[in-house]
Amino acid sequence: MLDFEINKQNCTRCGLCVADCPARIISISEDGYPAIAIEKEVVCYKCQHCLAICPTGSVSILGLDPASSTILAGGYPDPDKLETLIKGRRSVRRYKDENLDPALLQKLLEVAWHAPTGVNSRQVRFTVLDSKDKVAQLRDAVMTGLGRMVKENTMPKEMGSYANFLRIWENHNIDILFRSAPHLLIASAPLSVATPDPDCLIALTYFELFAQANGVGTLWNGLAKKAINDLLPETRHLLDIPDDHLVGYVMVFGYPDVHFTRTVQHRPALIHRAL
Ligand SMILES: Cc1cc2nc3c(=O)[nH]c(=O)nc-3n(C[C@H](O)[C@H](O)[C@H](O)COP(=O)(O)O)c2cc1C
Repeated sequence: MLDFEINKQNCTRCGLCVADCPARIISISEDGYPAIAIEKEVVCYKCQHCLAICPTGSVSILGLDPASSTILAGGYPDPDKLETLIKGRRSVRRYKDENLDPALLQKLLEVAWHAPTGVNSRQVRFTVLDSKDKVAQLRDAVMTGLGRMVKENTMPKEMGSYANFLRIWENHNIDILFRSAPHLLIASAPLSVATPDPDCLIALTYFELFAQANGVGTLWNGLAKKAINDLLPETRHLLDIPDDHLVGYVMVFGYPDVHFTRTVQHRPALIHRAL
């Protein structure tokens, strides 16, 4: 049941909900108000565009009260500032030895979870290490696993650099794998959804930008992803990542111990105007 309800006192019958429904299942019923026929409910994306587009807040679906939505008018960031954020965002590889404020961490995750997903599957799962002690525990497990591979000579040749990372950690306490970040985030999604890979990457991209807007540094971490997902898949179990999930990517984050003063200057964008 979709619980598609129209507040007939406020509905102006403008038809915007009908026009924007991606599944095209809303129609004007005999009484002149929008409705969804029961047999069409099954193809609803549950995207809530009908609720979001209604100028008078007269549409409710899935039992949601439109009054609980945030009003958009005037709420978007200034495009110049957003441009500076996109251009000024940098990979952070040095972090303060400090956990994030838990309320901020929760907010970053909840906001990032609004990222779009293919056919609105909304199955991206955030696995988060919410303290530096937990990252340390993961690092111990990974370094122990790498040590075992080195000892047993089972490290694949093309992954030889991981033996170096282990050595650098053991000899110099320098953590190339996790950058001594206090937090780690993994986005995963069931392999059965339409677009697990992009869903995870988009969610992490939203997370990164919102994090950096909040003074939190982030680093896309391919080295950690390979270690967790490919080299030492048992760490997936340690982290309780379901077997039927694709690990989209791994990101570390925390308060930065580095401050960038200006943007970098990339060469012109590769833009190919076809046809
Ligand atoms: C998919 C992806 C994986 C990455 N993996 C790592 C990594 O494992 N370790 C690391 O130090 N940097 C990693 N980086 C960071 C890149 O090296 C960095 O984005 C690039 O050098 C440009 O720097 P900037 O992000 O500050 O603009 C990764 C970036 C991306 C997008």
